[in-house]
Amino acid sequence: MTSYERLLLENKAWADEKVVEDKNYFKRLSELQTPEFLWIGCSDSRVPANEITGTSPGEIFVHRNVANMVVHTDLNLLTVLDYAVNYLKVKHIIVCGHYGCGGIKASMTNHNFGIINKWLRNIKDVYRIHREEINQIRDEEEKTDRLVELNVQEQVMNLAKTSIVQKAWLHEQRPHLHGWVYGLKDGIIKPVFEMEAGTHLDPLYEFDDL
Ligand code: CO
Repeated sequence: MTSYERLLLENKAWADEKVVEDKNYFKRLSELQTPEFLWIGCSDSRVPANEITGTSPGEIFVHRNVANMVVHTDLNLLTVLDYAVNYLKVKHIIVCGHYGCGGIKASMTNHNFGIINKWLRNIKDVYRIHREEINQIRDEEEKTDRLVELNVQEQVMNLAKTSIVQKAWLHEQRPHLHGWVYGLKDGIIKPVFEMEAGTHLDPLYEFDDL
């Protein structure tokens, strides 16, 4: 059996098990999804949203990209965000980074990664904003991990800078924004930054005609 054939076999076993536990399981899920959370996480295979939060299918709406970025020209992210906020009416948006993130590490080098450079440049911008603090740290691993935390914070603030989030804050007092960092070494999630719905940000980024 090839590696991918194993996936299909495991899928069959999983589906059978679910139906044994609850014969209406798939019928119910296929009719409706009402997740309370939008998860914006890293594509890293070691950080699966549902598994590390003990949640089931139907509970978290998920978007993942390299280094869990909220880039305002990313149509993919904006579509997920708009759908989650305006149609699914999620109450919470979680940006979850992780220590030892390869995307963050790559952005701290001067290596030419080709087309990937364009994505990493967004992380370099976060480094530039917090350069003074990060450069005071001597240990390379600690340096990376601090940028992981600050990047999560900046991405949460990028969410707050969208008209999608600001409009929902004004009219529906949701969603609350959370910045978390997952530890690959211990499996523990550390909350590092929060923005309650309605939090004021730099007036430069606040829309006054929502
Ligand atoms: Co990563």
